[in-house]
This record gives sequence, C-alpha cells and structure tokens, in this order.
Amino acid sequence: MTRLAPFAALMALPLMAACVDPKASPDTGAEDYAAYCSACHGATGKGDGEIATELSRKPADLTTLSARNKGEFPTTKVMAQIWGYAGAKGRGVMPDFGPLLQSEMVPYDGGDGIETPTPIRLVQLAEYLKVLQAK
Ligand code: HEC
Repeated sequence: MTRLAPFAALMALPLMAACVDPKASPDTGAEDYAAYCSACHGATGKGDGEIATELSRKPADLTTLSARNKGEFPTTKVMAQIWGYAGAKGRGVMPDFGPLLQSEMVPYDGGDGIETPTPIRLVQLAEYLKVLQAK
C-alpha cells in the first residue's frame, strides 16, 4: 500500500484541479489530429496533407509507424516526438503543439509498464494514431 500512495496522490491531483474537462471525449484525438496534424500528414495519416508539397521536408507517413517498428506502435517515441517540438521552437518542420501539452495530466502507461503523468490530449492523440495504423 505504501508503494501505491504517491501514485494515488498523483492521480487525485488532476482530478481535483480539473473537475470535468468537456474536451476529454474519445473523439478528441481525432479532432486534435484534424486541427493540428492533417494539413501536413493528411486526413488518413499518409503524409499527403494539402500543404505537404510546400514543406522543405516530406511529412512522415503516420500509418506505417507500427509497421516500421516491428509491428508494434511506438507509443512513447511518438509522444516524445510530439512533445519535443514544444521545446524546439524554430527547429524542425512541425509547429509548437502548446495547447495539446497544456491539457489536464493523467497517468498513462505508454507500454513500458510505468505510469507517467501525461497531458490527456497527447494520450488521446496517440490513441488515435494507433487507429490509423495500416493493418
Ligand atoms: C507543418 C507540417 C506538420 C504538421 C502540422 C505536423 N507534422 Fe508531423 N511531421 C512533419 C514532417 C515534415 C515530418 C518529418 C520530418 C521531421 O521530423 O521534421 C514529421 C514527422 C512526424 C513524426 C515522426 C514520424 C516518424 O516516422 O518517425 C510524427 C510521429 C509526427 N510527425 C506526428 C505529428 C502529429 C501527431 C501532428 C499533430 C499534432 C503533426 N505531426 C503535425 C510535418 C508536420
């Protein structure tokens, strides 16, 4: 029980602070993808968005993330890539995703067995990208 106590406290914090977040619906990932990603990565994630051809670098095909990682969706890597851009203003092609990263924090296990406080909209976005993976 003592081992769980700090974790329980972590979980309680965002719940108390945020009450009910109206944006925390299962569709949020899809909505955020449409708003923040599809212009470059395309509606279905294939890297063929409307401004893709105007970029200095071709947007990655996000439907092959699993295929290119031995069939397993690289959740933590993808989240780190999205998160990392917030701290890399002016570098790279992708914009700053500040609003996504400033959302309510929830404990999330990205596959390494460790629950890490993560912005909920980043979690929902990663879950949505999983759905886009080519079968
Ligand atoms: C302005 C265009 C643009 C936008 C908007 C954009 N991306 Fe990207 N993205 C790129 C480009 C170009 C690359 C490949 C080169 C690079 O990393 O800069 C890339 C690479 C990536 C990668 C790495 C893929 C791999 O194969 O390793 C991920 C993951 C990714 N984007 C996710 C997203 C997500 C999620 C969003 C929305 C929150 C987003 N991108 C928005 C242009 C964009």
